[in-house]
Amino acid sequence: MAIQRTFSILKPDATERNITGAINALIEKAGLRIVAQKRIHMTRGQAETFYAVHKERPFFGELVDFMTSGPVVVQVLEGEGAIAKYRDVMGATDPSKAADGTIRKLHAKSIGENSVHGSDAPETAAIEIAQFFAGNEIVG
Ligand code: CMP
Repeated sequence: MAIQRTFSILKPDATERNITGAINALIEKAGLRIVAQKRIHMTRGQAETFYAVHKERPFFGELVDFMTSGPVVVQVLEGEGAIAKYRDVMGATDPSKAADGTIRKLHAKSIGENSVHGSDAPETAAIEIAQFFAGNEIVG
């Protein structure tokens, strides 16, 4: 499996509870490297662009409200098969369905306030990384 990069967000429910370090420890324990990271407060425009694929979903407004409700930590993670590996580490979107030991099983509050986001494919990873990071901010 080739070395990949994936995009990650530690969401407002994680920054609010001061558990970004605990989540980063799970990321690193899984063998993923945090090669870029910054704490930002997303604007509505940034959140609407980021989640544009979900704009017809009934939860879109709630999702944008939540993602702009407090600071987030945006990250680039690197490692072998990083996209699938991070999705395994995160666990299912709905924390009640997430496997034991995953970030969402351990920390997520609900399907909406689910602590983390990770890219679902190489194409989306590249688009998501480029929305938040310049090339020279990623140091592998
Ligand atoms: P994420 O991986 O960031 O991508 C889309 C997000 O939409 C997802 O995580 C969830 O947080 C959110 N989401 C998915 N389904 C629902 C739902 N039924 N209600 C509220 N939010 C949802």
